Order: sequence, then structure tokens, then C-alpha cells
Amino acid sequence: MRQPLVMGNWKMNGRRSMVENLLKAVMIDVGDLAGVDIAVCPPYPYLGLVTDRLAVNGIVACGAQDVSAYTDGAYTGEVSAEMARDVGCRFAIIGHSERRTLFGETDEVVAQKFARAVAADLTPVLCVGETAADRDAGRTQEVVLRQLSAVFKECGSGAFTRAVVAYEPVWAIGSGRAASPEEAQKVHRFIRDVVAQKSAQAAAHLRILYGGSVKAQNARELFGQDDIDGGLIGGASLAGADFVGICRAACIG
Ligand code: 13P
Repeated sequence: MRQPLVMGNWKMNGRRSMVENLLKAVMIDVGDLAGVDIAVCPPYPYLGLVTDRLAVNGIVACGAQDVSAYTDGAYTGEVSAEMARDVGCRFAIIGHSERRTLFGETDEVVAQKFARAVAADLTPVLCVGETAADRDAGRTQEVVLRQLSAVFKECGSGAFTRAVVAYEPVWAIGSGRAASPEEAQKVHRFIRDVVAQKSAQAAAHLRILYGGSVKAQNARELFGQDDIDGGLIGGASLAGADFVGICRAACIG
């Protein structure tokens, strides 16, 4: 039985006051939720503040939105996985499509970051997913397989033993147009099958999140699919009530 996980990816949003208010709202309202793991991923400058606040209730975990492909050293502007772990993060989002497309992260760089996160005792949340053009050309599985294979190549067949995968079709991110539960389920099943070819046990335990225009209104049906184990939430994670509504849907779903 896989416990659902709902993660908020705040992206590059917020100021100290918003962080404080959002955390307060979330921490109060998730108090009665059972059977779901919850995490938020704030921008780097607020990680310490967030982990301090979250330590008080112990229900919501914290994640970084990215980590460096390098270990500590002369890499101006980078933040290492060890640093993220040191300030109290438990998760790290790796290879988000915005990093791949806007910042040129290749599959190989993403795989190195994944390895750094694992080595630092963080749970990597590997984002995979196809663009609209890939989808129209019928290349969804090919793209997802390529993204997963790069991680297997870097980290070996046990790569996903302690990891999370997030299927985020690029065309669904921030578009208001989520994948249908059936089409998402098909890709989630495919991801689990690919992992199962290397390790049946890792595949059975692997949490595969869906991301892309998840709202409180569509979350329940998405999370009700056999291979959808929660969500990675962008826009809707910036409003306390919306995010908690999605967490609630994961409990029921
Ligand atoms: P939206 O929920 O805003 O579509 O963003 C999804 C996402 O990119 C989460 O990482």
C-alpha cells in the first residue's frame, strides 16, 4: 500500500510574509488529515524559515526545488544537496521541466542531480513528461523512457528504491488543462512498468505523482487512479485553502 504524497512547488513565488501566512493556513488545516504525506517546496532563501516553522507540527515536510549537480566547492550561485539536507529538507525536486527547458538541463545533468540528492539522504522527486509536440507526435512513452533511462544509467537498477517520480506533461503545467485521469493513468502505469523491469520491489513501492493543473476540483478523480499516488502542485499550492483541498482529496482518493 502506497501512502499518497501531495507536494506544493511554490516555484519562484512569495515573500517572507506570504510564506508565514501560507504555512500558518496549511499547518492549521492539515491537522486532521490522516493517510497522506504532505510537503512544500519554497524558494531557497526561505528553506530555513520553512523548516523551522514546520518542525513545530511535524506533519508537513519540506523540499528543495532543485539541487546542484556538484558537491560543495567553488560553484558560485549553486546550492548543494547536502546544504538542503542540512537545513532540514527531506525531498528535492529534480529535473522539473522548467529547469530542463529554461535552464538547459540535459537528461545527464538531471541524473547527476538525482544522484547527489540520494547521496545527501534526500528523496529525489524526478520530474518527467513530454511537450505538446512530443505528445502530438505520439512520442510520450519514448520521452519518458529516455528520461528514466538516464537516471538508471547514472544510478543503477536500484535507482528508484528511495525516490518519487512526478509525471508532469509540459502542456498541462500552468495551462489550466490537466491530463485526463485515464491518460495520466496510462503514463503512470508505463512508468511503473519501466521501473519494474529493473526492480519489481522498487516499482511496487514507488510513488508516482501527477503534476499539471491539479486543482481541488479535479484532484480526487486523478488520485483515484491505480497508479497515481498523489500530486505535485504548482499554482494551487500558493493558496492555503486550495492546497489543503487537494491534500484532502488525496486522503479520500
Ligand atoms: P501547475 O499546478 O501550476 O500546473 O504547475 C505544476 C507544476 O509544475 C508543479 O511542479
